This record gives sequence, structure tokens and C-alpha cells, in this order.
Amino acid sequence: MTLLHLASVTRTVLPPDQPALTILNGVDLDVEEDDRISVVGRSGSGKSTLLNLLGLLDTPTSGVLEFAGRPVKDYSSGERDRVRGREIGFVFQQFNLLPGRTALENVIMPLLYAEGRQFWRRRAIAAEMLEEVGLGHRLESLPDRLSGGEQQRVAIARSLVRGPRLILADEPTGALDLDTGQSVMELIDEVAARTNAALVVITHDPAIAERSRDHYRLDHGVLTRVGAGVGANASSAAGAGAEAVAGADAGAGAA
Ligand SMILES: Nc1ncnc2c1ncn2[C@@H]1O[C@H](COP(=O)(O)OP(=O)(O)OP(=O)(O)O)[C@@H](O)[C@H]1O
Ligand SMILES: [Mg+2]
Repeated sequence: MTLLHLASVTRTVLPPDQPALTILNGVDLDVEEDDRISVVGRSGSGKSTLLNLLGLLDTPTSGVLEFAGRPVKDYSSGERDRVRGREIGFVFQQFNLLPGRTALENVIMPLLYAEGRQFWRRRAIAAEMLEEVGLGHRLESLPDRLSGGEQQRVAIARSLVRGPRLILADEPTGALDLDTGQSVMELIDEVAARTNAALVVITHDPAIAERSRDHYRLDHGVLTRVGAGVGANASSAAGAGAEAVAGADAGAGAA
């Protein structure tokens, strides 16, 4: 099933007293249920802007954006919030943990918006999730008593605790040293695989991009598929080149 469908998506902003700035230009992308996608690009190329669209935090200026087959513009803002909360997990470079709350309380937070069993069992579910990311012994620790890698593990537990269908990671290892970054990336891959979630990782790091199955580059707002990483299987590697060319063409005209 196609989770996200983007066709000819543009995002333009109007800074005060300046000409319109086109941040994304003719972006075509499909994210399927078990996809592993990476997007690399220079600073300012539009990566976070793209991620905000994929995460239903923002809407395109023009073009089509569909989540689970339904145009995002047809969702009310309440529906968008609910879909985002239930179906999408975000992992950011800066872990964005609540400083005065323990690891457990941070991971419980998204479950406060859940219903039924997930809500009533929230403490146990959050504790299990922290156990799973290797922090079962740090449930009561405050973020400032945890290392960067541990904080990112808490953030990962928090973003995945409701079992999202889509995981969006924006430079998830950007604030970590090489080894810690690698183990955090392995953790994200592992949880995505176990829960059958799709994964889109935005990164500057070519080694991380290599891990993914489909590998894209964003350059001045134009998204191009550059190939398959080591995680590629035969079916996803075939036939995707044509889409990338179409995406680059669509972008060129409006620049
Ligand atoms: N609301 C806005 N108004 C004006 N300019 C914006 C706005 N949002 C983003 N930009 C500009 O659009 C460009 C792309 O921004 P974006 O944050 O998507 O880049 P990025 O690829 O994530 O960069 P980085 O790697 O540094 O995080 C940047 O030049 C940024 O300054
Ligand atoms: Mg960014």
C-alpha cells in the first residue's frame, strides 16, 4: 500500500520584501509500506521542508500530496493532527525531550492521546519500549542525566511507542559521535523492520544513506533518485530510475 504519494509538489514561501522563494520544486515521491528511503542534500536544499510535508506538518503550495490514498488537503486540521499522532513518528537531530520529565514520562507523553488499551496500559507500554531501546534501567532518569545517545534512544522510544506506520527522521545522528550514531541508526532500522513501518531518513551522512534501500538526493529543491543502497532488493531497485528523471524534469521548468 502507498502511504505517501507526492506528484509535482512545490513549496514556495514569501519572505517579507523579497521575491517568492521556491524551496521545493516538482517533487515526485511514493513511499510504500515497507520502504527504506534516504534523502541527502546540502544545507538549505529543502530537506526539512520536505520532511514537514511528509509528516503532514505543512501543505504543498501546489501539486498533489496524499496520505494513505487521500489528498491531505481534504483532511481537517484535527484529522491531520490525529493521523500524525497515530501513524507518524518523528525523530529529530535535537532530541526535543521535555527536560523536567523522566525518560518514562517522556515516552508516556504520546500515549496520553491514545485510546483504549494503549491509554490505560500507557506506563507498561512505555516501560517496555524503553526496555527495547536498551534503557530499561534508566526509566526514572531525567534527560540531563543521560548521554546524547541515550537521549536519542528515549526520543526514538517516544516517537515509536504508538506503533506508527511511517517513521520520519531528520538528521537523527547529527548530534552524535560516529559509533553512537551507527548504533542509533541500527536501532531505528530494527524497530522499523519489526513493526513493518516505512522509514524516511534525511541525512548529510553518505554512510547512513547507503544503508537504505532507495536513495534520493535533494538539490535546490529538486528531488532525484540516485540509486539503491546496500539494503536494496531486486524489486525496489527496478524501474524507479524513470520516476527520478521525471522529477528532475518537472523541477527544471519552474526554477
Ligand atoms: N518559512 C520560510 N521562510 C523563508 N525561507 C525559508 C522558510 N523555510 C525555509 N526557508 C529556506 O528554505 C531553504 C530550505 O530550508 P530547509 O530547512 O528545508 O533546508 P535543509 O535542507 O533542511 O537544511 P539543513 O541541512 O541546514 O537543515 C533554506 O534556505 C531556508 O532558509
Ligand atoms: Mg534541515
